Amino acid sequence: MQVLSVASEVFPLVKTGGLADVAGALPGALMPLGVRMRTLMPGYPAVMRTIKTHEVVGGFPNLFGAPASVLAVDHEGLDLLVLDAPHLFERDGGPYVDRAGRDYPDNFRRFAGLSLAAAEIAGGILPSWTPDLVHVHDWQAALTPVYMQFGPAHLMPSVLTIHNIAFQGRFGPDVFPELALPAQAFSVDYVEYYGDVGFLKGGLQTATAITTVSPSYAQEILTPEFGMGFEGLLAARLSSVSGIVNGIDTGVWNPQTDANLKTAYGASSIKKREANKQALAARFSFDLTPGPIFCVVSRLTSQKGMDVLAEVVDDIVENGGKLAILGSGDPALEAAFLLAAARHPGRVGIVIGYDEPLSHLMQAGADAILIPSRFEPCGLTQLYGLRYGCVPVVARTGGLADTIIDANEAALAAGVATGFQFSPVTADGLRQALRRVFTLYNDLKAWNRMQVQGMKSDVSWDLSAGRYAALYSRLLAKG
Ligand code: ADP
Ligand code: GLC
Repeated sequence: MQVLSVASEVFPLVKTGGLADVAGALPGALMPLGVRMRTLMPGYPAVMRTIKTHEVVGGFPNLFGAPASVLAVDHEGLDLLVLDAPHLFERDGGPYVDRAGRDYPDNFRRFAGLSLAAAEIAGGILPSWTPDLVHVHDWQAALTPVYMQFGPAHLMPSVLTIHNIAFQGRFGPDVFPELALPAQAFSVDYVEYYGDVGFLKGGLQTATAITTVSPSYAQEILTPEFGMGFEGLLAARLSSVSGIVNGIDTGVWNPQTDANLKTAYGASSIKKREANKQALAARFSFDLTPGPIFCVVSRLTSQKGMDVLAEVVDDIVENGGKLAILGSGDPALEAAFLLAAARHPGRVGIVIGYDEPLSHLMQAGADAILIPSRFEPCGLTQLYGLRYGCVPVVARTGGLADTIIDANEAALAAGVATGFQFSPVTADGLRQALRRVFTLYNDLKAWNRMQVQGMKSDVSWDLSAGRYAALYSRLLAKG
């Protein structure tokens, strides 16, 4: 089976969040199942710099204003189709925002370009390859099934995966004439959304199947609290909606071979984590007092509940804990954590920025990772935490609820607990969870048992890749 995946970020080439990890790992997990997945992604400067050799396999004389080509690239086992369109993607900021953090004003055109190119590939524009099915991710690729409907690939099945329904790709109606869609597409059955143009909206209407990245989030987005306006549309398409939980790349995230660690370790040599804890403490200039180190590796936003965390920093320190934060985001939250670090030298530290190697050391050295998200489609850092024996303390929502087994009395007695869940996402909710964490941390045997239980849980892609493959087969059988 040949599948075209379409994503605006792919690890290890470009990453702003979990989407990149998923788009980078799923193709390898599908390969043993007989699914060949090729991934179309934008040729951002970072991508063009990294790829060494390529072959031009197709092109467009005019893709929204200038010519573009499709390059076939083999990069670290990934089978990529890179859309080389400098007029759309050659920018000196990030994939979506400029250096000042502002959305590029032509994002609608940039990602309509990605989606149109994908639909054309589905329609057979590449002489050497045509997919059987298209799998697109998030709003940036969500116009693909809309374009497919109006072209030669209108019978080909498509899957749209929602990684975060908060990001919808909504633009004013003035962009519609620029999208090269027929007039009828500006209607409620396609991209029209309260008078605006909605990229995700169009994809949700037209994709053959809709998935999201955990079963709980698939349920939650049917409600007004989490659906962010799409709950009605999704309810109308209920039989096409499902949740498939993310896995992680267990090769990239393996504490036994991870070159970013001070010391490698496994479930049977968990004592060796101590050297990583010391390295982490040194990195954050922590004092040598005993007690747990909590870590955070996250976008610093209200989705991630970082304002709630800011309220409990002092409690963590008062109880003898330390807090190491790696992240960036909302300037007010960055400032709040900088102040907390200044208030508690040797106990609280923050690295503002994006640092992939440090994110590995944090999972290997901290005792617990805090994830107090208000909503979380899946979440990957709790899965990395499980794999690294860094106990996840999570809000009971979305994929966090699906992947962590709470250390309640019954689960502890049965030896199946892997972390702590709490709700509601309030300072008091988090404080109560932290009390339970401190209590268990003082029982070294019970704590180690929970770490090992986490390290043994299956966080690989194996099961979920099978679910995607089964979904693709069902869609192809129907077609
Ligand atoms: P989201 O995609 O909503 O941000 P996920 O938990 O799915 O949340 O994925 C976040 C990914 O980004 C993880 O791989 C995490 O380790 C990584 N990450 C987040 N912030 C940083 C950072 N400051 N430095 C390095 N990696 C980070
Ligand atoms: C999104 C979600 C996150 C999920 C990731 C990968 O960024 O916020 O919960 O893990 O996509 O699917």
